[in-house]
Amino acid sequence: MIKKKILVTGGAGFIGGNFVQYMVEKYPEYEIFNVDVLTYAGDLTKHQAIEKQGNYHFVKADIVEQDVIHSLFEKEKFDFVVHFAAESHVDRSITDPGIFVQTNVIGTQVLLEAARRVGITKFVHISTDEVYGELDFDPTTFFTEDTPLKPNSPYSASKASSDLLVRAYHETYGLPVNITRCSNNYGPYHFPEKLIPLTISRVLTDEKVPVYGEGQNIRDWLHVFDHCVAIDVVLHKGVGGEVYNIGGNNERTNLEVVKTIIQALGKSEELIEFVEDRLGHDKRYAIDSTKLKQLGWNPSFTFETGIIQTIQWNIVNEEWWKQIISGQYQTYFNKQYSI
Ligand code: NAD
Ligand code: TYD
Repeated sequence: MIKKKILVTGGAGFIGGNFVQYMVEKYPEYEIFNVDVLTYAGDLTKHQAIEKQGNYHFVKADIVEQDVIHSLFEKEKFDFVVHFAAESHVDRSITDPGIFVQTNVIGTQVLLEAARRVGITKFVHISTDEVYGELDFDPTTFFTEDTPLKPNSPYSASKASSDLLVRAYHETYGLPVNITRCSNNYGPYHFPEKLIPLTISRVLTDEKVPVYGEGQNIRDWLHVFDHCVAIDVVLHKGVGGEVYNIGGNNERTNLEVVKTIIQALGKSEELIEFVEDRLGHDKRYAIDSTKLKQLGWNPSFTFETGIIQTIQWNIVNEEWWKQIISGQYQTYFNKQYSI
């Protein structure tokens, strides 16, 4: 058995949380350290089942705090870093961009510097397809790893900036890095500010679902489990310095996604409310994942199987999202939407 120490940042959030659970179960010989400051998007109740396992540790810390992060690296001597921690919601970046620069840019640089000083085997930076900007509606066009970075939102601009720092640490210091750029995720423990969990929770409570503009913008959807498997593949097999795109090949307009959920729950499409469009709303994202597939990765969920599993998860785990939407989330929702 090869023992490894893995630092996962943002492991109390949606994707990082799923990844922590996946790794703790799959690699009992690895020690997983979840470092998270617990913003509004962080929640530890999801980890109750793994908390007692000896190979899981939680450290409450802010990745921007250089002294704290450097001391942690010196103490634990991590082999791998998988960096998820970020401000992740485009709408919040439009109303309050500053924190996105702090966490996503400065926080990433602090981690890179700590990793460089102690020396690590692999730093996987979890980025997003949104750094490439937008595609038009021509279905034959896709983002490849060579597509130029042209981010449009403060969120994607902050992620692109962090990607450039990761690249620079590889080119300048030889830090062994990979960058992954994934399309939109969905699945268990998805915070109900994003389109799919927002729609599921509101349809379940018979409330209006806000759809921006005419609902014709297109996203490519990947189940979070398939994203976790892809990161595992990149962590263990990714070639140093390389970027890997991750996509689901499940392009849907937002209106199609919302209608699929409404139909699956047997509710009326009258719940749909078209609202003012998002500023600078990216038209379409679509991914070419050929490079990652060459490492042996393939998604296991289709959108049809994944969305039903996700709806069922939200029905069974109603307590989890109801507790979120009853708190400060209401203030956010009322400020963001006038429905
Ligand atoms: P999330 O918002 O659900 O979780 C983010 C986590 O980071 C939270 O637990 C939060 O507490 C933590 N965090 C925030 N600031 C921190 C700080 N300063 N120090 C320590 N912890 C901090 O996000 P997510 O949707 O799980 O996304 C995770 C990563 O994946 C992000 O880097 C995001 O850019 C990327 N990504 C997300 C998607 C998607 O569809 N959600 C798609 C592609 C890539
Ligand atoms: P979102 O889940 O915020 O992810 P991203 O902006 O990172 O792609 O949004 C997905 C799509 O759904 C995007 O085109 C915006 C749209 N959308 C709505 O129409 N209404 C909403 O209330 C939200 C949150 C998103």
